[in-house]
Amino acid sequence: MSDAPRPGEAIAETSLAEDARLTFIGRLSTPWRERGDCPRQGSVDGPECRVEVFPRWQAALDGLERFEELELLYWMDQARRDLLTQFPAHLSAPRGTFALRSPARPNPIATSRVRLIGISGRMLTVRGLDCVDGTPLLDIKPDRCAFMRRG
Ligand SMILES: C[S@@+](CC[C@H](N)C(=O)[O-])C[C@H]1O[C@@H](n2cnc3c(N)ncnc32)[C@H](O)[C@@H]1O
Repeated sequence: MSDAPRPGEAIAETSLAEDARLTFIGRLSTPWRERGDCPRQGSVDGPECRVEVFPRWQAALDGLERFEELELLYWMDQARRDLLTQFPAHLSAPRGTFALRSPARPNPIATSRVRLIGISGRMLTVRGLDCVDGTPLLDIKPDRCAFMRRG
């Protein structure tokens, strides 16, 4: 997949010098090796994916099994970070980056609401992702509207 700007796209002048410091808490395993293979948005009817939480964060999973749906935040590590406007293939005209859910953004943070299928130790099985295999994980939150399984 080419990263070259398309007609109608504009690029910001930025050095990204004011980057926040984030820490990756895990890694996402999905069936998709290339960006072009991924769905545009995940679906809870999609394939099972694995969420590996790094060992130092395992205790932070305590209680998560109560929730049926989670919000995952992940870092789109292959995305450009300097596009002001973008012309995605599914649109008929360019649009501003902040009017899109494209992974190309100054801080390429993606979110998906996923169905929690199960937890084993620090490995979660979920449905609803849309990212390349190996995409770094930033955070896990119980979905605001999700029903608790029990307790
Ligand atoms: C449109 S984004 C939506 C992401 C998220 N669900 C959201 O709405 O914030 C999903 C697309 O990002 C691209 N993508 C997937 N993994 C990526 C990665 N690690 N780095 C950059 N782009 C990625 C794929 O083209 C995929 O179809």
